[in-house]
Amino acid sequence: MSQEAAISVIHDTDKNVLDIILSRRSQRAFADTPVTSEQVETLFEAAKWAPSSVNEQPWQYIYANKGEELWDVIFGTLHEGNQVWAKNAPVLVVSLARTTFSRNGRANAYAMYDLGGANVLLSLQATSMGLNVHQMGGYDHEGLRQALRVPSDLELGVIMAIGFPGDGEQLPEQLRERDRAPRVRRPLEDFVMNKTY
Ligand SMILES: Cc1cc2nc3c(=O)[nH]c(=O)nc-3n(C[C@H](O)[C@H](O)[C@H](O)COP(=O)(O)O)c2cc1C
Repeated sequence: MSQEAAISVIHDTDKNVLDIILSRRSQRAFADTPVTSEQVETLFEAAKWAPSSVNEQPWQYIYANKGEELWDVIFGTLHEGNQVWAKNAPVLVVSLARTTFSRNGRANAYAMYDLGGANVLLSLQATSMGLNVHQMGGYDHEGLRQALRVPSDLELGVIMAIGFPGDGEQLPEQLRERDRAPRVRRPLEDFVMNKTY
């Protein structure tokens, strides 16, 4: 999918929000089209430029290409409801954050916040390249931690399924519906205030 095609899927909003934000969506269908190592590297390069508390940059990423043993290991920890569609994702990425500051070993309360910011930049970069990123919290956290031998000062974030969007018609029926459904968001009045609680 070209960048032009990716950003043409615009959702309802009466505000002048960037097309790239409106066209990002978590799709479940993936094409066979391979994702090159250069493309994957560009995604991490985008994540790298995220802001972080005292510029700690606490994020870590473990990626695996379909066909590699590591991909199978990560895939094996996904909840069944995610495996149904993520089985076609050419790339799986585990996102993690170091929860202590490198300079003094103290707890970094913003580590997961910073990781989320980095993941958003990665996702928007992917959207601009015609790639789909679908984040997943539905996996066996303890199983993945053990399988990847994750050190105790790292916290697990989402696993991301990444690839070029595929034909949604090939998904199981109820997933097909969800993939086609319009993206829904709460109105600003629900979460923006100019008053105290
Ligand atoms: C922390 C987090 C965990 C998520 N976990 C899952 C998941 O396990 N399975 C899934 O299909 N989607 C998952 N999603 C995707 C959300 O369902 C999706 O972002 C949300 O419905 C909004 O849709 P959109 O991303 O297309 O705008 C997750 C997203 C986030 C940010």
